[in-house]
Amino acid sequence: MTSPKPAARPLASCKRANYGIDAPDVVLRFFLIGLAGFAVGLACILASRNGLLPWARFLIAPFLNVGFCFVLTALVMIWGSKIGKLRLRDRVLDALPWRGDEFVLDVGCGHGLLLIGAARRLRGGKAIGLDLWQKQDQAGNSREATWQNVEIEGVADRVELKDGDARALPFPDNAFDVILSSWALHNIYDQAGRETAVQEIVRVLKPGGRLLLMDIRHTKEYARVLQLAAPKWSDHAGGAAQMRDVKRAGPNFTFVIPSFTLTATKPG
Ligand SMILES: C[S@@+](CC[C@H](N)C(=O)[O-])C[C@H]1O[C@@H](n2cnc3c(N)ncnc32)[C@H](O)[C@@H]1O
Repeated sequence: MTSPKPAARPLASCKRANYGIDAPDVVLRFFLIGLAGFAVGLACILASRNGLLPWARFLIAPFLNVGFCFVLTALVMIWGSKIGKLRLRDRVLDALPWRGDEFVLDVGCGHGLLLIGAARRLRGGKAIGLDLWQKQDQAGNSREATWQNVEIEGVADRVELKDGDARALPFPDNAFDVILSSWALHNIYDQAGRETAVQEIVRVLKPGGRLLLMDIRHTKEYARVLQLAAPKWSDHAGGAAQMRDVKRAGPNFTFVIPSFTLTATKPG
């Protein structure tokens, strides 16, 4: 029998967890391009007003527009990292049918966004976060920073962190009830690598287990891998060839670039 859905655990401390700024280099580049746009726009205003370059007045609006768009995009990306993705995290996790005793894996957990969200829904079980902790993918990314968030959010008794690569998950077949991943797999730049990662995720998911993948790119590709025969895991996992109930939802514009959410269940 399924026990009632457990309520999310309350926060243990008034210190706030820091879930990092995603794609920090992109945010910085957008700010710099935006500021350069404003600077050239202002220079055009001055040059056309004092008669130095009268034709420069035609460039004022285009440069100020470019500056505005890039700075706005950078600000929205920071808002997405600080506020938007926490709201989205709570929405997608609330939509999963939690029992409260699941074994959960967050692939590419970064600062622990989904990992901690899942752990707060557990009374037993375990939530494991796996990552390579790449700083170019998330500012200040490290196992230590994630563990600090785990402690701030009061879930250290339910969480483990592991160093590892999504393409070679260091777990046995059929190990997890729920596997989560947010904005991580697109950081694997070759298609074969991403396909291997999705197949690895399915391999370590238990029959009947649920999968939730969020990403800004390649979600159709992930869905195709889930829907097609996936020999790398079906060899291990007893011949089942495709995931059930593969659904792609979205878009969500938390990071300006549309994010899509994929959910699926492994045949039991
Ligand atoms: C944009 S961050 C997202 C982190 C977290 N899931 C979140 O939503 O805040 C992407 C994360 O994926 C991790 N990552 C990238 N490639 C990976 C791989 N092949 N295996 C495991 N983690 C990976 C990065 O180190 C980084 O922590």
